[in-house]
Amino acid sequence: MTTSREVRLNAIPDGLPTPEHFTIAETALPAPAEGEVLVRNRFFQVFPAVRTLFGGGVKGTPFPAIGPGEPLIGMAIGEVVEGDLPTGTLVSHWQGWREYAVVPVDQVTPIGDVLTDPVAHLSQGLSAYTALTKCAEVREGDTVFISGGAGGVGSLAAQYAKQLGAGRVVGSTGSQWKAERMRSELGYDEVLKRGEAPEGIDVFLDNVGGEQLTRAVANANDGARFVLVGALSSQLSPDHAGTTAFTEIDLLRLIANRITVRGLSPRDSWAVQAEWEERFAGWLRTGEVTFPHTKISGIENAPRALQELLAGQHVGAVVVEL
Ligand SMILES: NC(=O)c1ccc[n+]([C@@H]2O[C@H](COP(=O)([O-])OP(=O)(O)OC[C@H]3O[C@@H](n4cnc5c(N)ncnc54)[C@H](OP(=O)(O)O)[C@@H]3O)[C@@H](O)[C@H]2O)c1
Repeated sequence: MTTSREVRLNAIPDGLPTPEHFTIAETALPAPAEGEVLVRNRFFQVFPAVRTLFGGGVKGTPFPAIGPGEPLIGMAIGEVVEGDLPTGTLVSHWQGWREYAVVPVDQVTPIGDVLTDPVAHLSQGLSAYTALTKCAEVREGDTVFISGGAGGVGSLAAQYAKQLGAGRVVGSTGSQWKAERMRSELGYDEVLKRGEAPEGIDVFLDNVGGEQLTRAVANANDGARFVLVGALSSQLSPDHAGTTAFTEIDLLRLIANRITVRGLSPRDSWAVQAEWEERFAGWLRTGEVTFPHTKISGIENAPRALQELLAGQHVGAVVVEL
């Protein structure tokens, strides 16, 4: 294989990206040098934060900004076809949005066989699990509120929270058609409209920020634990670049109710990978948890997949299959 197709950004979108902002470019593939591997990508993740990278990214995160003319990045699963690892090894790495990638060997991770479906490695489950177990430390009987409850993070967070002993799991969504699926398939006891928050929150896993966070602070129980995972209301705002997220919260409620608020960085999750794989695989095996996701076929459909994800047209993770 000497050429590969990849998705490139044409220009920084003014507002949310649409397929016109991308080109599917054919590129010549270099042979892998010493210390590199050539990987044939089989799947890559379509994720909302890629929009934040077009706007310049966020200081302190491990992901670089994406400029005009550059290929997109994101997590991918592929098989080694040449280089410093055995041919056929399935690996994860960050050069998604392309058919083939030449990657330094220290930037690929063999995925092993704990999770039998390789696509499960492209779930947002690791972040959901880390937020619930290591940051919020969900306890038996907790009322857990998950904003953006039908998305890649939220669809697994709800199911994990139930397995971890939560007493009541409440989610929010901006797409009313998702509410029924959230109740019947994802374990939610109650579903609210985007921006609303239930009374009596013990744990808040926030993917949305903004008004949702303001209201959750007002409705939190004494000693509530808030984990800020994302800020979709700002990240996906068409009015600005999505690289900052300002929200008004009542500090006196935080103080009076001894609420802890902490952010989740992708760096928090790295040490939890092996534990999460074991537990997720176990829950999948027994059928206690499902992995909601949509597979979209062909790199040429990846820009449309992103547009659909941002518009709220999918439940769970969105993955492009090559
Ligand atoms: N900190 C970390 O380590 C980490 C790791 C992974 C992900 N994240 C972050 O976690 C968040 C959730 O990720 P995800 O993959 O689960 O995303 P996602 O929920 O799948 O993102 C797409 C969803 O966003 C919602 N949405 C669209 N526009 C919105 C708006 N203006 N306000 C609020 N919601 C809007 C829609 O859901 P509805 O139609 O249901 O409203 C849409 O389906 C993101 O902010 C992501 O960047 C953080």
